[in-house]
Amino acid sequence: MNCRELPLTLWVLIFVSTAESCTSRPHITVVEGEPFYLKYCSCSPAHEIETTTKCWYKSSGSQERVELNPRSSSRIALHGCALEFWPVELNDTGSYSFQMENYTQKWKLNVIRRNKHSCFTERQVTSKTVEVKKFLQITCENSYYQTLVNSTSLYKNCKKLLENNKNPMIKKNAELEDQGYYSCVHFLHHNGKLFNITKTFNITIVEDRSNIVPVLLGPKLNHVAVELGKDVRLNCSALLNEDDVVYWMFGEENGSDPNIHEEKEIRIMTSEGKWHASKVLRIENIGENNLNVLYNCTVASTGGTDTKSFILVRKADMADIPGHVFTKGMIIAVLILVAVVCLVTVCVIYRVDLVLFYRHLMRRDETLTAVVDEIHSLIEKSRRLIIVLSKSYMSNEVRYELESGLHEALVERKIKVILIEFTPVTDFTFLPQSLKLLKSHRVLKWKADKSLSYNSRFWKNLLYLMPAKTVKPGRDKSEVLPVLSES
Ligand SMILES: *[C@@H]1O[C@H](CO)[C@@H](O)[C@H](O)[C@H]1NC(C)=O
Ligand SMILES: *[C@@H]1O[C@H](CO)[C@@H](O)[C@H](O)[C@H]1NC(C)=O
Ligand SMILES: *[C@@H]1O[C@H](CO)[C@@H](O)[C@H](O)[C@H]1NC(C)=O
Ligand SMILES: *[C@@H]1O[C@H](CO)[C@@H](O)[C@H](O)[C@H]1NC(C)=O
Ligand SMILES: *[C@@H]1O[C@H](CO)[C@@H](O)[C@H](O)[C@H]1NC(C)=O
Repeated sequence: MNCRELPLTLWVLIFVSTAESCTSRPHITVVEGEPFYLKYCSCSPAHEIETTTKCWYKSSGSQERVELNPRSSSRIALHGCALEFWPVELNDTGSYSFQMENYTQKWKLNVIRRNKHSCFTERQVTSKTVEVKKFLQITCENSYYQTLVNSTSLYKNCKKLLENNKNPMIKKNAELEDQGYYSCVHFLHHNGKLFNITKTFNITIVEDRSNIVPVLLGPKLNHVAVELGKDVRLNCSALLNEDDVVYWMFGEENGSDPNIHEEKEIRIMTSEGKWHASKVLRIENIGENNLNVLYNCTVASTGGTDTKSFILVRKADMADIPGHVFTKGMIIAVLILVAVVCLVTVCVIYRVDLVLFYRHLMRRDETLTAVVDEIHSLIEKSRRLIIVLSKSYMSNEVRYELESGLHEALVERKIKVILIEFTPVTDFTFLPQSLKLLKSHRVLKWKADKSLSYNSRFWKNLLYLMPAKTVKPGRDKSEVLPVLSES
């Protein structure tokens, strides 16, 4: 089993010191108007002496290479194994080579424009990141020009911090407010002219960076439903320290799979100074061989490792209940629920009609069991006491009759009482107390002026409160209907 490992991404801060004695970098960028030098790196003290023949050449663009010496330009000086510019200008851009005996060294020089609106040029800053509470040191040094430097000033965000100092420096424990651009400006005299050399540090202060144990986000084992022939992107993301690495590992029995690609890692710094990294593994044109094997993503740090695995499964194998069956089931359940609710609502609204219809259908007759042949006990054969309330009828005698009748009905015989409010009763004080105990559905209100039709709600409600009795067919309905009048 081969393992595929990614090249580790390194975040190394290169602190370019101005105290460089020779020029080792082959590509150099410098700002116009500053003193500048190129110095051959394998220069022994014996070579430094004037007698050894040293040649400097410049070539730029299609131009032939030309030899450089103080005679070719007043800005150029030769000093030991160094070529000095007083100062360097835009047209000094080009390739330079040094020759001495059979030694040679080459450089490419790029002179850039000075930012006239700032004390430094953005392209020439050295970035440095320092953690809060850690040691922060900024030193202004220039060993090559040291003997020539008249004074040095230190600026923070172009505001002067320290002035007229030989080697100004800052040494402190870093705080968030220390973040900024620090420029060291060395002033020096040469041939009666004043020059300056600016070196700027871009200091970023970050939160505490004590190491965390890195973690991969999400579940440890992931089943990913895929379709053959399609592509899939497996996203692995982790919370980690700056120097931790994330990589993918998977079996490659038959050599590397050309359809598997690792995408570039994306890192974002969290507010706590930790990193959020994500790395995607893209599998194109998924084949049978990509199914049911482990694709592992690992985060590694000095504190340990964490791994999570992805398995590709065919889409149909994935769901226990196919989606469409589940949806249909839900729809049916909801429809049944709605139907039940509707049925109950209809039953409550048409309760009276339903009971009457049932009685008609069953031909029920509760009156048949009552004793009908005893004329003297009229009350005894009564199943209901109907009271028609009308204020004009409420004389003292009637009141007495009503009260005793009610007593008979409610206490002794337990006859059911139906109260018909004939005219609107606003003042109930004239009514016997016991009437107030009546349930509200046993009180019917007569609202019309004329007699109502047999189908009206009033008669249906009255019929509902009455004992069940089959109405003989063929009988004229007007015969059955009582006629109420005020007289
Ligand atoms: C440094 O020198 C340049 C010209 O070469 C000038 O424009 C700039 O103002 C000088 N900087 C300071 C701080 O004197
Ligand atoms: C200075 O550093 C910060 C943070 O690292 C960065 O965002 C900014 O671009 C840098 N500035 C320059 C001029 O390089
Ligand atoms: C810097 O130069 C000025 C005049 O150009 C001179 O008066 C002063 O003494 C010099 N300072 C140092 C430290 O060389
Ligand atoms: C991967 O997932 C993380 C969150 O878990 C997200 O921030 C990131 O953008 C995703 N990357 C891609 C390429 O989809
Ligand atoms: C992936 O991880 C599992 C569990 O950690 C391990 O058993 C398996 O060998 C790993 N496979 C590869 C290819 O690294």
